[in-house]
Amino acid sequence: MWKEECFLQNANYWNAALVTLFSLALSLMVYKAWRSSTCKKGEVPGKLWLPCLGETLAFLSATNSTKGCYEFVRKRRAWYGRWFKTRLFGKIHIYIPSPEGAKTVLTNDFIKFNKGYVKSMGDAVGKRSLLTVPHESHRRIRRLLSDPFSLCSLSKFVQKLDMMLLERLKSLEEKGGSFLVLDFCMKVTFDSMCDMLISVTDTKVLQDIEQKCNDVSNMMLSFPAMIPGSRYYKGMKARKQLMQIFREMIARRRSGMERRDDFLQAMLQRDSLPEDEKLSDEEIMDNLLTLVIAGQSTTAAAMMWSVKFLDGNRHAQERLREEQLSITGSKPEGALLAMEDLNSMTYGLKVVKETLRMSNVLLWFPRVVTENCVIEGFELKKGWHVNVDATQIHYDPSFYKDPSEFNPSRFDASFSDHLLQFSLPTLLN
Ligand code: HEM
Repeated sequence: MWKEECFLQNANYWNAALVTLFSLALSLMVYKAWRSSTCKKGEVPGKLWLPCLGETLAFLSATNSTKGCYEFVRKRRAWYGRWFKTRLFGKIHIYIPSPEGAKTVLTNDFIKFNKGYVKSMGDAVGKRSLLTVPHESHRRIRRLLSDPFSLCSLSKFVQKLDMMLLERLKSLEEKGGSFLVLDFCMKVTFDSMCDMLISVTDTKVLQDIEQKCNDVSNMMLSFPAMIPGSRYYKGMKARKQLMQIFREMIARRRSGMERRDDFLQAMLQRDSLPEDEKLSDEEIMDNLLTLVIAGQSTTAAAMMWSVKFLDGNRHAQERLREEQLSITGSKPEGALLAMEDLNSMTYGLKVVKETLRMSNVLLWFPRVVTENCVIEGFELKKGWHVNVDATQIHYDPSFYKDPSEFNPSRFDASFSDHLLQFSLPTLLN
């Protein structure tokens, strides 16, 4: 009996000690969260909430809602002003809303700022992807990846794409009825990327690779934990299978069983060159996946938005049609589009720019601060994540009059724009 009482008493002490410790820890966290919400001079407004978790759940819930993850940013900007901070996936994030801030960050890439993709994104594309490698490897990989995109191979690609679009649009016309523009664009961009990069054209193989790439894309903004059934888990599994497909493809090419005129072949032709003049197999595989994923949904989304915007602006649609018809009219009957024709599409280029401004296919550009610095009076600490908010800049009425209006002519020659340009042109330089 005495022994039992003693044991109960001890257990009570332990419980009391645990409750006290837990309350102390909780109070400390709440105090820290409260402190983070009160702003000193030079401090970016916003709340960090609890360490590790911060506002991750609110961000993920916005990402999975019909409004999309930018709703998270929009709400905080309404609460705290143009500049705000938050804590996501355990890291402090600052959203940069101005062209000056954007310029400071983007012109200091790899100097004061490094690429800062969230863990799930980095895991999706792999450690040797252009999106994740450190500066030293980035320059080399980018140079070697750009090499096969010569004007000659691009010219062939333009023709192939033109032919594919003509065939598919014709078949849609023959079938009649309606179709989903985004699905159509996703299929066209995926199939043409796979053709250009790895010469895969078989429908079944394409479907299989596309399903796996979709799983990888879906894990990009997910919670990075291997919980069976989660988006992250499915994506990591699909990534492993894709790597195996690429590995087998490389082996077939090396053994001489298969030889194609494509991007992968161009990479393998460097096998006998010194180390810094070629990519390792892991670098090739991670970057094949990166190119497909970075290229497909971005291009498809831009194509879809251009259809939507042009549908809402008859005048722009007519001007674009006139320009296209005059280019077709100047070519022999049935001739395919050539690289040089792209230079004649002056209005077409403005339509692309205006579409990219309004659609913000990439909502923000993520970077990590590598040394303490100050931008527009706000102190940014080493290790913080800064997101150059393209969406906010592209809709700022002080730079773009009537920003919600689709007006390609705003990009007439004299207009000095703040458009955060997309990647392909720079990738090819
Ligand atoms: C309309 C279409 C596209 C848009 C809007 C777009 C947008 C972007 C943006 C904004 C970046 C810069 C991200 C940053 O600096 O944080 C980027 C990078 C990149 N994009 Fe694109 N992109 C498009 C098409 C493509 C295509 C077709 C490919 C592949 C063939 C591609 C491959 C890449 C790669 C590899 C990077 C990383 C470049 C580097 O780190 O040096 N993109 N893209």
